Amino acid sequence: MKDLPEFLDPQRMPRHVAVIMDGNGRWAKKQGKPRSFGHAAGMEALRGVVRASDDWGVSCLTVYAFSTENWVRSKEEVGFLMNLLLRYFASELDELDEKNVKIRILGDVNGLPGPQKKACENAMARTKDNTGLNLSIALNYGGRAEIVRAARELARRAAAGEIDPDAIDEAAFSGELYTQGLPDVDLLIRTSGEMRLSNFLPWQCTYAEMVFGDTLWPDYTRELYARDIAIYQSRDRRFGGVKTQIGDKA
Ligand code: IPE
Ligand code: IPE
Ligand code: MG
Repeated sequence: MKDLPEFLDPQRMPRHVAVIMDGNGRWAKKQGKPRSFGHAAGMEALRGVVRASDDWGVSCLTVYAFSTENWVRSKEEVGFLMNLLLRYFASELDELDEKNVKIRILGDVNGLPGPQKKACENAMARTKDNTGLNLSIALNYGGRAEIVRAARELARRAAAGEIDPDAIDEAAFSGELYTQGLPDVDLLIRTSGEMRLSNFLPWQCTYAEMVFGDTLWPDYTRELYARDIAIYQSRDRRFGGVKTQIGDKA
């Protein structure tokens, strides 16, 4: 663990942090620039959070980069975001691989344009045996679509006689999601003042602690990330139980 701020408890770090990186467009607008400017700046903020997660021993970081709903934006904006994805891998993949980061794409990679699909597959293949930070990038991702896809696969296997429908449990279902093998989300962060999930990880966030802040994503720093983790550490997670303190009577 490198440079962990002293107000954070190393024993209580979230295992899985998910981030809705929101507010790039408003950030750009505030300075009279096109939305693409905000997305480029947002990529820098992402770099910082990935580095901090790696330094601080967060084992899984999942970021929302492009939703299945984002295709409705202008051709220019979608094109810029798709190009940014290629730029991200071109500039980051060597360093990420060196840092032992394992990259996974959550979402329908087949629905991406050819070069983007190839870049995603290459990043995953190249880092598949890495054992450090699990960096998942949600791209062309929709939470409901992910659940439907899992249901369809289980139904297909049941119809083929490969599994018993009665044996389908939560673990079996989780195993069909893009996040298979990852722990549930402990901490969900959303920037830019919006307080909604926007179809992000509905299954995986059922018991996540949510932290919403007003900062627009391009202004999100390592210090703000540390502060959000501190908020997480101050929460009392009960998972349906009762808080027990020393001396409490049942
Ligand atoms: C988040 O910023 C990035 C993506 C959705 C790709 P936005 O582009 O949603 O920025 P705002 O919400 O319009 O400010
Ligand atoms: C969620 O942000 C998607 C990403 C951050 C990639 P949006 O900006 O698309 O969400 P809404 O439209 O405000 O709900
Ligand atoms: Mg937005």
